[in-house]
Amino acid sequence: MKLQSGHEVVPLEGSEKEKQLKDFPGYAGGLIRLMPGRWLLTPMFQTVADRIYNFQHKKSDVVVMTWPKCGTTWTQEIVWTMMNSPDLDHPDSRLPILTRSPFIENDTFAPALKPGEVPPSDDPFYVAFKKVCPNKDPADGMHLQLTKHFPDPRLIKTHLPFSLMSPSLLDTCKVIYVARNPKDIIVSFHHHSRLMKLHNYVGSFADFVQYFLDDDLIYGPYWLHLKEAWERRNHKNLHFIFYEDLKANPLGEIKKLDAFLNTELTDAQLDGIVKYTSFKEMRARNNAPIFNYEQEGVTVEVLNDEVVKKDGGFFRKGESGDWKNKFTPEMDAKVNQWVQKNLNNLGLEFKYGI
Ligand code: A3P
Repeated sequence: MKLQSGHEVVPLEGSEKEKQLKDFPGYAGGLIRLMPGRWLLTPMFQTVADRIYNFQHKKSDVVVMTWPKCGTTWTQEIVWTMMNSPDLDHPDSRLPILTRSPFIENDTFAPALKPGEVPPSDDPFYVAFKKVCPNKDPADGMHLQLTKHFPDPRLIKTHLPFSLMSPSLLDTCKVIYVARNPKDIIVSFHHHSRLMKLHNYVGSFADFVQYFLDDDLIYGPYWLHLKEAWERRNHKNLHFIFYEDLKANPLGEIKKLDAFLNTELTDAQLDGIVKYTSFKEMRARNNAPIFNYEQEGVTVEVLNDEVVKKDGGFFRKGESGDWKNKFTPEMDAKVNQWVQKNLNNLGLEFKYGI
């Protein structure tokens, strides 16, 4: 199958598929690769790929684009608050972030619905979907339609690279790209992949590092994702943020966002947003993208509780440099080599935390 983006869909087969399914039992529905690029996604992506590629973006859209675990949720919360609740008084601010800032390809991870079939009435995404598009069929892509019909200005999340999004994206709307050093990404993604049942990673940390180095984690090569964005960094509609800079100087980075977004916030509003979006406050509010929730009297187990108890939930540590507590010298050397090979010639330098 060929997508309108020009990518060929290649399902994972044989020993490669077996290995993935053994280590990630959450991918029981299989995986696909998109060539070129080796982007690794679930088969459901094929049902939304062309519609995402042809998505009609509006001038007022703001897209937060990241590879997983780079600080997407943090950035979404900052930007949503800047755009909608600068005085921290918006009534919707306690709703889960993905119902306020839709995740365009999230249907890729949602259970497939048959035409006319509806999710349970209190599924938080279905509640948001019903409010925004009451007459649409959720089986036709609940998250994609939520994104499409969301009131302006839309704050859209994606983990897809530029090459799978609309080719006119940057010429139409603003994009905020968030990058993070690969060592902290590995630690954070390893936790996330064990935490979330949809991945259910059961392999070792050392194997997880190798999956990353081989570009075999879901979404595929981080270096290529980053490279596609870095090459566009001088476009007036692209704003680049590094997690480490946001962590070291949130006020300075939020001021840059204020200038990029033309939000014209006061010093008091900027200070308020820094505090409101600190790790401590976001963790205390816990309106995370994913959580276990009650649905028609039954707990929907999105997270592995034993991982939450032992190692924390979605808001794990929120620090730069935690990789130093997990990496062996061999792992460190391998990741340094990977950076050298794939990214150093771009003139891009990671900060590895204290
Ligand atoms: P850690 O696992 O290192 O703690 P994403 O939203 O892209 O999935 O990224 C999640 C990472 O961002 C996690 O990193 C999470 O704890 C961290 N994070 C979330 N909110 C944060 C905040 N307000 N400040 C700093 N880090 C935050």
